[in-house]
Amino acid sequence: MPLTWLTNTQRKRWKNETALHPHAQTFTPVRLRPSHRHWLVTRIPVVQLSMRVLVACEYSGAVRDAFLRAGHYAASCDLLPSDSPLGDHYQCDVRDILDHDWDMMVAHPPCTYLCSSGLHWNKRRPERAQQTEEALAFVRLLLEAPVPRIALENPIGCISTRIRKPDQVVQPWQYGHDASKATCLWLKGLPLLQPTDVLPGGKGARRANQTPSGQNRLPPSADRWKIRSETYSGIADAMAQQWGNL
Ligand SMILES: C[S@@+](CC[C@H](N)C(=O)[O-])C[C@H]1O[C@@H](n2cnc3c(N)ncnc32)[C@H](O)[C@@H]1O
Repeated sequence: MPLTWLTNTQRKRWKNETALHPHAQTFTPVRLRPSHRHWLVTRIPVVQLSMRVLVACEYSGAVRDAFLRAGHYAASCDLLPSDSPLGDHYQCDVRDILDHDWDMMVAHPPCTYLCSSGLHWNKRRPERAQQTEEALAFVRLLLEAPVPRIALENPIGCISTRIRKPDQVVQPWQYGHDASKATCLWLKGLPLLQPTDVLPGGKGARRANQTPSGQNRLPPSADRWKIRSETYSGIADAMAQQWGNL
């Protein structure tokens, strides 16, 4: 890491993180005379400190690993074990670790009782209404977590009408994937995610993951929900590159 001035608290935190995380770089404190300090402060660009990022409700490691590759400390949390061995994973209820001094959280709460296709079933099965209320309470809790920067991701559904409209809707085809899947983002303390690689055809194009009628091509299987819910790597990389660099 190039030289930069750290407060005692920052230095302590940096040391703890370097001990935890293999991607972190080592920091050697140096003592300099005040005149040298002036030279350093004025001539050397201040580097971005690595952030502590929590990726809530993620078993795949897609977003966590993108932040790790970008040089941050990132941990994922899910009730399920992680599919990727790269980084730290908390297999627990995320509500138990929300106050662990995170700088940013990217959250992917379950959409089964919130998304438009799931809500369709609420008319036939009234007992699902209670589960929708519980899912909304979970989303509210995540959005109000004590973390300065939050991005919460979900498909189109009732969060928009019951909590608030999303700040933006992104598509995998804006990030280099020949796929269509409207993904809403609710943001706190973060700028809009900019497209990185927009494929030709725009909104109207039929994508590789769609049938001629616009449905998702994936056949029914036990793993279908998992495959469908995994974050596209182009979107994960854009989050890490753009939001990890503020
Ligand atoms: C729609 S999936 C998100 C998958 C994610 N996009 C990924 O790439 O791994 C929602 C996930 O939330 C997890 N989950 C549900 N309730 C949770 C809780 N209270 N704490 C932590 N994870 C939870 C589920 O196990 C599920 O894996």
